[in-house]
Formats: sequence, structure tokens, C-alpha cells
Amino acid sequence: MKAVILAAGKGSRLFPVTKAIAKPLLPLANRMTMEYAFDQLKACGITEICVVVGENEQEMRSALGDGSAFGVELSFAVQDKPLGLAHAVGCAEEFCGGESFALYLGDAIYSGPLAPHVAAFEASDAASLLLVKEVDDPRRFGVANLDGEKIVKLVEKPQNPESNWALAGFYVFGPEIWSGVHRVKPSARGELEITDAIQILIEDGLTVLPGKFTDDWYDSGTLDSFLTVSKAVTGGKNVIAPDAQIDAEIGSNVVVGAGAKVSCSLLQNTVCLPGANITVNGAITGCLLGGEVTSDEGLEDQILWGDLT
Ligand code: DAU
Repeated sequence: MKAVILAAGKGSRLFPVTKAIAKPLLPLANRMTMEYAFDQLKACGITEICVVVGENEQEMRSALGDGSAFGVELSFAVQDKPLGLAHAVGCAEEFCGGESFALYLGDAIYSGPLAPHVAAFEASDAASLLLVKEVDDPRRFGVANLDGEKIVKLVEKPQNPESNWALAGFYVFGPEIWSGVHRVKPSARGELEITDAIQILIEDGLTVLPGKFTDDWYDSGTLDSFLTVSKAVTGGKNVIAPDAQIDAEIGSNVVVGAGAKVSCSLLQNTVCLPGANITVNGAITGCLLGGEVTSDEGLEDQILWGDLT
């Protein structure tokens, strides 16, 4: 089986840092976010991967190359504009070559394996299997209604969800998906939604299975969730590059990248990116920082990269 990773978003909720480093390349415990996706897919026996990129194409190509450094075989497809997940996956249709494939949303991180779900799909005659997870408030996700061991209805970001099963960013598709992708129309938010494309398959009478995920699932899209996933990936330990120069008390959940220099009173729940040069007169808590950062007072809950806004 092959896989497609979607990584063409702008990462605007992590601006300005993602203007300097593409979001899929941001380090989590000093490894690129994408490397965790590669690990998961390799554990599913998948090494042939197409990464859908956008404006970040050149940066992504030079950071990831042909994938051999990560034990995978990469190709790239370019999505000119982020018109939605169905549009993005459509950019990889030729790569998939009419076969079954896995789809991984580039900002998803999982604490447990995906391989059992790929195996469950392969052992079935379903058109698709969707990773789902029960969450308290599913309104910012795609939401699945289940009937026994089938998904019977899907709605993207409903105001009044009919279940707590959120689509958790990993999908396995048979070639039937293309017929849904080709027929889907823009949603209320103006995007071509993969959720709507799969709903078309359900309406066609095809079988869509839930892959119930019981481990932790994170998406690294906002400052809060980035720091939470960073903590999950480090196991709560501080990760300080050996050549980082730090003149500060170091609290908990602190990651400092290679070559970074930090001078302040306290570093707490913060990620300082490789090469950052940070001089702050006070404590730094809950931040994601890169480039040249200076401040006469402490920093709290901020995303900063030098002069970028
Ligand atoms: O996080 C899970 C949710 O992901 C699901 O529950 C939803 O059903 C699904 O639609 C999606 O919702 P989001 O609004 O969170 O998706 P987002 O725009 O953050 O995009 C997810 C990834 O896909 C991200 O890595 C960027 C990439 N992407 C996104 C768009 C819109 C593309 O490559 N191209 C695009 O056009």
C-alpha cells in the first residue's frame, strides 16, 4: 500500500514562526513533525509516500529530499491553493495509481499504532476505513455517526454534533474514493471536504468502517496544542541540544534546538527553535520562539520569530 501525506496548509495559526519554517518541518523534541508521520507509516509497512505540498514546496523538497534519510521513498505533488482536503488528495491521484492508499493529515501525531487499522481495512471488503476518536466537543472536527460497526453518516464541523466520534486525521481508501472526490462540491466554508467526498460513498451504498482509536491523538496546529504535543513526544522531559547556550533556570517541558542561545530568568513550557537567539529580561512561559528575540520584559503565551509578524 502507498500513502499520501497532506502538508500544503499555511500553518497560519502558528504565524509568524511558520513563515520562517514550514509547519510540517517544525521540530517536536528536535525531530521534524513529518518524521513522526513517516514512523507511523513505516510501522504499517508503507514506505512509498507522496507528500502534497503548497507554497512550501521548495523548503519541503530540500528538507525531505527523496526520503532515503528517513527510510521512505518520497515523491511530491503540488497543490496550487489550499482548496480543501478532497482537492489536496486529488493532487495525488496519479501517484495512487488506482490502488488502495492511506491518507495522513500532516499535523496529526498519535501515541499509539495505526497499523492495526490498516490491517483491519485490508482484511475487509470496505471502500474505506476512517480513524475515529471519541472527544468531548467534536464541533471543530468531522463527525461520524456509527451504527454497529459501520459509519452511516459524516458531517464536517457540525454545530450540533449527533455523536462524539471525531475524524482523527487518518484514513484508508480503496480506489472508490476517487468517484466521491470528483463529485464533491464546496462546503459552507468554501472548501472541498474529504468528509463530504466520503459521505457520497456512504450514499452510494458503499461500506465505510470506523477504526476506533483509543490512544492519544494530537494535532499540532495551535500554540497550545503544539506545546501539548511537544510535551507528549518528549514524555515530559526537557530536550536541550548539546550545543545550546542557556543562561536561565530551566523549568519543565522545555525544548531548545541546536545552536540556540537563551538568556532570561526562567524557561518554562517553551520551545526555542534551532539557531534562535533569545535575550529576555524576565521569565519565558508557554512560548514558541525562533530567530532573534529581545524583550525588556518576560514573555507569556507568545509565538515570535525575530522581526516577522
Ligand atoms: O484534525 C482532524 C480534522 O482534520 C478532521 O476531523 C476533519 O474532518 C478534517 O476536515 C480536518 O479538519 P481541519 O480543519 O482541522 O483541517 P486543516 O485545514 O487543519 O488541514 C489538515 C491538514 O491538511 C494540514 O496538515 C494542512 C493540510 N491541507 C489542508 C488544506 C485545507 C492541505 O494540504 N491542503 C488543503 O487544502
